[in-house]
Amino acid sequence: MAERMDAYWMPFTANRQFKKAPRLLARSDGMYYWTPEGRQVLDGVAGLWCVNAGHARPKIVQAIAAQAAEMDYAPPFQMGHPKAFALAEAVAKIAPAGMNKVFFTNSGSESVETALKMAIAYHRVRGEASRTRLIGRERGYHGVNFGGISVGGMVANRKMFGSLLAGVDHIRHTHDLAKNAFSVGVPEHGAELADDLERLVALHDASTIAAVIVEPIAGSTGVLLPPKGYLERLRAICDKHGILLIFDEVITGFGRTGQPFAAQTFGVTPDMITCAKGITNGAVPMGAVICKQGLYDAFMQGPEHLIEFFHGYTYSAHPLACAAGLATLETYADEGLLTRAAQMQGTFADAVHSMKGLPNVIDVRNFGLVAGIELAPIAGQPTKRAFDVFLECWDKGLLIRTTGDIIALSPPLIIEKSHIERIVETLAAAIKRQA
Ligand SMILES: Cc1ncc(COP(=O)(O)O)c(C=O)c1O
Repeated sequence: MAERMDAYWMPFTANRQFKKAPRLLARSDGMYYWTPEGRQVLDGVAGLWCVNAGHARPKIVQAIAAQAAEMDYAPPFQMGHPKAFALAEAVAKIAPAGMNKVFFTNSGSESVETALKMAIAYHRVRGEASRTRLIGRERGYHGVNFGGISVGGMVANRKMFGSLLAGVDHIRHTHDLAKNAFSVGVPEHGAELADDLERLVALHDASTIAAVIVEPIAGSTGVLLPPKGYLERLRAICDKHGILLIFDEVITGFGRTGQPFAAQTFGVTPDMITCAKGITNGAVPMGAVICKQGLYDAFMQGPEHLIEFFHGYTYSAHPLACAAGLATLETYADEGLLTRAAQMQGTFADAVHSMKGLPNVIDVRNFGLVAGIELAPIAGQPTKRAFDVFLECWDKGLLIRTTGDIIALSPPLIIEKSHIERIVETLAAAIKRQA
């Protein structure tokens, strides 16, 4: 086995450790994966926060197969195909009111790069070319390309890669266990942390700032929830200073919080939403930037034969992704999945908060169908305790995700109470065993 694994340099993986004891997945259906040996594994993380309708959904499978046979590829520059327009319209229909323009990419990282470039270019086409500065947030995750890691705030993703983008700054993160540990739903304390943006405006001047990008709920950095009133305050400060607000909804998009987008759940409308993952239920790579009409309109000037925005990807609006996306949105609609997290969140919250009091559990937090369980690190060995819990869960037939010493749960939205019980039973037993 070891030889045959040599060629593949695995992403975000401890390659040498993995190749000594591989964890392989061979098949999936509904809430489950199966290993090549036929062992069933309950999916507690929707693959990687993306398989929101569960695995191998027939409508999506058939749509992809049919599209591959009908038309494999169509160039997206100066050409189009019907499903690209249909999917853009279907996405706009479930997006917050007024956000009705959709630009397709192939991943969350590409959506972020696209949104950042759009923001800078938007100010330029409006005659405010000095607005080039981009503001992110500490502990933010916005994918792995240079713009994304520059506005991102996860040190391990940044420190190896040189000087990054110039002209970027960060507001403080909102994670405060001293005040908010074991909050059920959004935490009470910390709305005033949005005022950190005023500090950066005072330092750099608003006339140099293009946009602020935040995740409404930060997922990859360990499920960090927005304090009550925080996003509203950020919106107000952006409005006051003419700064665009970008919500990175790569994880929160497509039903994770009980509405199609977290912007709707929290009642705060940004200028742009970046999304990916759940747009095709993870079945074909795709991402998108959704933006307000006015932003698009600003670009639509000058001679009509000229390209308005010099940006795009060979695989933007790929026919297979569009077919998968349309079938995914239909599946979500048929089964009410975009609001199901709101119905299930009480049961989910009770279950995950039952882990309060287990050894080394220093926080449990939840919103919709996402939860974070934070463990005290082993002295001198950060990340090991959570990773050992991950390995133990894998052995017992449960897939979870860890980042640092935080365990993240984000199950498919089709989850039933019995699955929730099994997730928490298995996880709790693993946490106890690592004590
Ligand atoms: C908020 C956020 N933005 C961007 C990304 C990057 O997405 P991708 O891995 O598809 O490039 C992720 C991935 O988890 C994410 O959570």
